[in-house]
Amino acid sequence: MTYSRYGDDTVGTMSDLLDRSNGSGPGPMGPADVLGFDPNDPEFLREPYARYREMSAHGAIFRTRAGLIVATTHELCGAILRDPRFGHGSDPLYGRDPGQPVESFLWMDPPDHTRLRGLVSKAFTSRMVERLRPRIEAITAELIGALPEEADLVSGFAYPLPVMVITEMLGVPPEDHERFSGWSEILARSLDPMLTDELISETGRARREFRDYFRDLIAIRRARPGEDFLSALARVEGLTEPELLATCVLLLVAGHETTVNLIANGILHLAGHGLLRQAAERPRQVVEEVLRYDPPVQLTSRIALEDTELGGTRVPKGTPVLGLIGAANRDPAVFPDPDRFDVTRDPGRHLAFGLGIHFCLGATLARLEGEIALAALAGAAPGLELTDPAPPYKSNLVLRGLESLPARLRR
Ligand code: HEM
Repeated sequence: MTYSRYGDDTVGTMSDLLDRSNGSGPGPMGPADVLGFDPNDPEFLREPYARYREMSAHGAIFRTRAGLIVATTHELCGAILRDPRFGHGSDPLYGRDPGQPVESFLWMDPPDHTRLRGLVSKAFTSRMVERLRPRIEAITAELIGALPEEADLVSGFAYPLPVMVITEMLGVPPEDHERFSGWSEILARSLDPMLTDELISETGRARREFRDYFRDLIAIRRARPGEDFLSALARVEGLTEPELLATCVLLLVAGHETTVNLIANGILHLAGHGLLRQAAERPRQVVEEVLRYDPPVQLTSRIALEDTELGGTRVPKGTPVLGLIGAANRDPAVFPDPDRFDVTRDPGRHLAFGLGIHFCLGATLARLEGEIALAALAGAAPGLELTDPAPPYKSNLVLRGLESLPARLRR
């Protein structure tokens, strides 16, 4: 990986920094030197919020040993997301596929981002999402019906649900669902910036197969349009085929594991607090509190596109900046008694879906899936018991999600 510097005071790109923390770049540095915390530490994985509290006790913003700027408050995370002086530039945080002809708009700055997101939004409408409701309900019921009495609610429920919904949304024919799930599983891992070389080549291969498959499917939908989102997207004028394909990959990557984690984190906290029934009574509030309390996306990153300032700290052009969404959502200045899981609270302005120009395009769909999934499970198995007091978490810097969630349904 090339080591690029933006100016004398800066520290190299985010990917360089993460390389160095893996021991492959210049100079020995641990992840904590780069990020201010160690995402692989089992204690951190179990309860990152304690570490965030310690970090914010030292100030709203700090510079890590490696020179990265980390913001821990709601105000400063929001500022990073809204301020056009922070963007993506040409520095990928994540292991992007160098062979990909067009990046998805998640990684773009205006004006490219504005144009592409505007075009995709023409097809990603709330009407399209609402039309999916009966299918989401049917898929949910089918998955719950198939769960054994002793079940892993990640592999048996939270994981397959969002991928089946996206499959449905894109109009993938049933005979191809299994192939699609395979790509989805591999591509979802590309959200982790600490990818190994092997995973990078595996995701590259899955991306190419996925693109070849969708190129054909788009041609079919162009010839014979259906009611699905892909047909609508294929009709949008001004969207090139590579852009269209990159968007399909983006929807899968951004919309899969995030929603898995919303559902699984939701079950964990609801059942853990004896509040599962609340999911059937006040689904909307429950989902918002889960998103605030234990957000599936824990952090987001930008780089300073010019010399600037954040919370009184000078930020030279090119400096990578992290906004800790997980910490912002527990900021006592915005959320009273923030460490209390309280499904009756006014959820307020949590940052689980981001803010500003990159605000999650799929938020309405994610909320709908979360509400339907949690309410249906509460209705079918109100006496559900978690059987592992400390279920394991997946190791991933950006996403916070359970590896498995064993439960006894007691239907
Ligand atoms: C609970 C589930 C979800 C969470 C927590 C979530 C979270 C987020 C966050 C935090 C961002 C902004 C990232 C940043 O600013 O750096 C984002 C962007 C995005 N999300 Fe989601 N997301 C979820 C589900 C979905 C779904 C279901 C879809 C679509 C099927 C989706 C599509 C997108 C897209 C396309 C973007 C990029 C928007 C842009 O760059 O303008 N997300 N999401």
